[in-house]
Amino acid sequence: MRVLVTGAGGQVGREVLAALAGRDVVAADHQSLDVTDRDAVLGAMTTLAPDAVVHTAAWTAVDDCEADPDRAFAVNALGTRHVADGARRVGAHVLYVSTDYVFDGTKPAPYTEWDEPNPQSVYGHSKLAGERELGPEATVVRASWICGRYGTNMAKTILRLAGEHDTLTFVDDQRGHPTFADDLAGMLVRLLVDRRPGVYHVTNQGAVSWFEFARAVLEAAGLDPERVQPITTADLQPPRPAPRPANSVLDNAALRLAGLPLLPDFREPLARLVAELHA
Ligand SMILES: NC(=O)c1ccc[n+]([C@@H]2O[C@H](COP(=O)([O-])OP(=O)(O)OC[C@H]3O[C@@H](n4cnc5c(N)ncnc54)[C@H](OP(=O)(O)O)[C@@H]3O)[C@@H](O)[C@H]2O)c1
Repeated sequence: MRVLVTGAGGQVGREVLAALAGRDVVAADHQSLDVTDRDAVLGAMTTLAPDAVVHTAAWTAVDDCEADPDRAFAVNALGTRHVADGARRVGAHVLYVSTDYVFDGTKPAPYTEWDEPNPQSVYGHSKLAGERELGPEATVVRASWICGRYGTNMAKTILRLAGEHDTLTFVDDQRGHPTFADDLAGMLVRLLVDRRPGVYHVTNQGAVSWFEFARAVLEAAGLDPERVQPITTADLQPPRPAPRPANSVLDNAALRLAGLPLLPDFREPLARLVAELHA
């Protein structure tokens, strides 16, 4: 089985490569394959003839997307159209990584795969548009709050800020499931190998607010969690351009109902990450 990984230089892409170690893999980073370039994508598909594509490439700068919707849709929606078109031509299965930002966050309970999306940000709209470029045979995995050893992410940012400031403030009115890229990548490969169609929510377990997550990060690093204080989203100065869902908690219902194992509580991979960063 030959697998093409788009966005192979990103935090999830790099972990997918690690999870696919030992298999026939083609790693396509932004420089080697720009998904907005239709000819390049179709050319790569026909030349490489992959059996499957893990499509992680995306413009993920959520706030910047607000100011440049054309770029967001060019990469996240049209780019996914190109990947879907190319994959169809060579019979490759596509697994697309999507986001909790497809929801508006107003539901008073965790979101299942069968809840109606209603994105509030340009990024969320463009990622949902990407989902809709794929046929029913594709696998769509929605993840949330991704952290890991590669790239910049909130776990690393919290550790950095803890080294620079005595007191940290994080919002206590946005909740989600922190998800660690290595755990996520393992499940992406499993769903890909099984060629399971449809939407799956795949996150680590343990719903927290950002405030609670920041405290957990300090605790994992052996620091005093009381240094983190709660604020509300309305207190954030300056306000962020893109609205975030207040409730980002994704119920991994499709995995659960299919009898597949859920990823562990986020504190497990968090401890692993902190140990690795301090090694
Ligand atoms: N991060 C999160 O919290 C989160 C949550 C839910 C879902 N997701 C989804 O998970 C996937 C992976 O995200 P991530 O966290 O790994 O983000 P990331 O680190 O930003 O990785 C995305 C990669 O896509 C590349 N890329 C951007 N534009 C491209 C283009 N036109 N053609 C080809 N590659 C392009 C980027 O390269 P450059 O950096 O060189 O531009 C980057 O390496 C994305 O689909 C994202 O929407 C992320």
